[in-house]
Amino acid sequence: MSRERRPPLALALAVAAAVVGVLAAASPRAEAELQVGFYNATCPIAEGVVFAEMHAILHEDPTLAPSLLRMHYHDCFVQGCDGSIMLRSRRGTAERDATPNRSMRGYDAIERIKARLETLCPLTVSCADIIAMAARDAVYLSKGPWYGVETGRRDGNVTVAEYAENDLAPPDSNIVDVKTFFSVKSLTAKDIVVLFGSHSIGTSHCEAFRKRLYNFTGAMDQDPSLDAGYARQLRKLCPRRHGGRGRRTKVPMDPGSGFTFDLSYYRHVLATGGLFQSDGSLLHDAATRGYVERMANASSPDEYYQDFAAAMVKMGRTDVLLDSLGEVRATCGVFVD
Ligand code: HEM
Ligand SMILES: *[C@@H]1O[C@H](CO)[C@@H](O)[C@H](O)[C@H]1NC(C)=O
Ligand SMILES: *[C@@H]1O[C@H](CO)[C@@H](O)[C@H](O)[C@H]1NC(C)=O
Ligand SMILES: *[C@@H]1O[C@H](CO)[C@@H](O)[C@H](O)[C@H]1NC(C)=O
Ligand SMILES: *[C@@H]1O[C@H](CO)[C@@H](O)[C@H](O)[C@H]1NC(C)=O
Ligand SMILES: *[C@@H]1O[C@H](CO)[C@@H](O)[C@H](O)[C@H]1NC(C)=O
Repeated sequence: MSRERRPPLALALAVAAAVVGVLAAASPRAEAELQVGFYNATCPIAEGVVFAEMHAILHEDPTLAPSLLRMHYHDCFVQGCDGSIMLRSRRGTAERDATPNRSMRGYDAIERIKARLETLCPLTVSCADIIAMAARDAVYLSKGPWYGVETGRRDGNVTVAEYAENDLAPPDSNIVDVKTFFSVKSLTAKDIVVLFGSHSIGTSHCEAFRKRLYNFTGAMDQDPSLDAGYARQLRKLCPRRHGGRGRRTKVPMDPGSGFTFDLSYYRHVLATGGLFQSDGSLLHDAATRGYVERMANASSPDEYYQDFAAAMVKMGRTDVLLDSLGEVRATCGVFVD
């Protein structure tokens, strides 16, 4: 990790976590918490192993970087960051069977990292933590920031497809919908606009935004908030009808910079209205729009990187299982029914 550039905030968090850890140990009534370096004593090589595996995995398939960042978001929003996104159902009723999974990739990568850790520190490192570490490494290996990732999550063994349908905002959400979905998880407007910067890397299938191009209000019209030139390009890539060529097509969410975690997402949203209505919705609220404009004009990504680290740490605390709750399994994707 020679390229490591820890931003001051991550250092502060690491120090704070260490202090909290000491206080918690001293007080019998203190509750367990996530900590940076939770595995320092029980599996000190855990983070290094995840990083090395991620390095190899992304060398083999760079498109898994965005997928694994997205996986942490989906895991956290559905029943908390508890690794339950990995669980399987023979009846097709797991989170991974739900509509938003249609494009989720990277399950095998998490299982590969898990298998490596099981040989080194059996039954110690949770799947939820591996997903959180993989997301951090994916960002860093996409030239984004490094941050101290909190660990200590345990894994849930319950998965319900409907939770994924209900807790993940659809891409045609407006800013009011988005705020509702995120405030349920205690995330603010600032967290929203910062986390959406994740769409700086990765791709989408046409079906997530086709309506904007061909049938926005049901009158065979185009979304007027979408830049006309950009809409023309998208219509070329994604034909009107689902199926055939357009079914497999993947469109970058931040064209021209889809593998680099940087500020160009904000410039893209400001200039074109973004790929999804939910991206464009950032322009329809004074606070989120102000941030988009500021980041679109920023000369350095430093402030954004600090904000992103803080927002990811916060998202990573969503409804976690700690201490005696949950379990640490040998395999992440076990069948639960
Ligand atoms: C309202 C909130 C959000 C909506 C509606 C949304 C929607 C989507 C959609 C439709 C895709 C494309 C999937 C596909 O067709 O392949 C996508 C991809 C992605 N999303 Fe989001 N997203 C949201 C929030 C987030 C957040 C909070 C993060 C991360 C913290 C995130 C990270 C990603 C990444 C990295 C990809 C690219 C995946 C890949 O290339 O495989 N998204 N998102
Ligand atoms: C683990 O070690 C790192 C690096 O020395 C330190 O920053 C962190 O606070 C430690 N965490 C715990 C829980 O011991
Ligand atoms: C996603 O859900 C669909 C529909 O239930 C299922 O056929 C598919 O196998 C799931 N995808 C993955 C990667 O699990
Ligand atoms: C356009 O949208 C309307 C309303 O949602 C729907 O009834 C109609 O079937 C759609 N047309 C096409 C061609 O998709
Ligand atoms: C960003 O730059 C554009 C053009 O250079 C300017 O019109 C706009 O006012 C700037 N916005 C902010 C928030 O500085
Ligand atoms: C799920 O985990 C709990 C402990 O957290 C355990 O009591 C229960 O038996 C487990 N259920 C299954 C289906 O593995």
